[in-house]
Amino acid sequence: AHRPLIAPSILSADFARLGDEIHAVAGADWVHVDVMDAHFVPNLTIGLPVVESLLKVTDLPLDCHLMIENPDRWAIGYAEAGAYNVTVHVEAAHDPVMLAKNLRAAGARAGLSIKPGTPLEDHVETLKHYDTLLVMSVEPGFGGQSFIPDVLDKVRTARRLVDTGHLKLIVEIDGGINADTIEQAAEAGVDCFVAGSAVYSADDPGKAVEALRERAAS
Ligand code: DX5
Ligand code: ZN
Repeated sequence: AHRPLIAPSILSADFARLGDEIHAVAGADWVHVDVMDAHFVPNLTIGLPVVESLLKVTDLPLDCHLMIENPDRWAIGYAEAGAYNVTVHVEAAHDPVMLAKNLRAAGARAGLSIKPGTPLEDHVETLKHYDTLLVMSVEPGFGGQSFIPDVLDKVRTARRLVDTGHLKLIVEIDGGINADTIEQAAEAGVDCFVAGSAVYSADDPGKAVEALRERAAS
């Protein structure tokens, strides 16, 4: 396996000090930014203006996870702003293939996310247009929830499709990832691990990132 990628989620960071909170995880691979609209999920967070400001204060790749309705309309702005990866939900996108093409044309990687209850099989044909698959291991909307191990079957399926050459994808997992759960996710074949509360509730978020990476690699 390759070096595991760790993507701290700033959802669990102090929103009044976002620049400092990102600098605290300088050894991370990506910074995960949770955009919520209070419609697709029952919570409201941050959007494009904040992402634009973050891009000015960090060189870390921004991994924008859009938990919003009608991403067909909004996702492109994040790509144009300079986000590294823009992930939309398959449950929300009207034309996910066109959306992926537009994101890539704007210079970003395109990500597709699936909620815990959404089967992967129905979307395998769509996935060939995407660079990342974000498997949700909690119901999207809030940090600090418990990991749902059932979703690892989808990770295994995606891993198999990648390893057999049928798909070229980074397999990413999001929700409930911590020192206790990361190993089973790694074993199932995850490439990139999002962790919010496990990183930002630690005394030293930077060390928490290193500890998670070590456990994922073991
Ligand atoms: C939840 C978000 C996650 C969240 C994960 O809807 O997509 O990125 O920040 O938080 P933890 O790691 O605490 O489960
Ligand atoms: Zn997320």
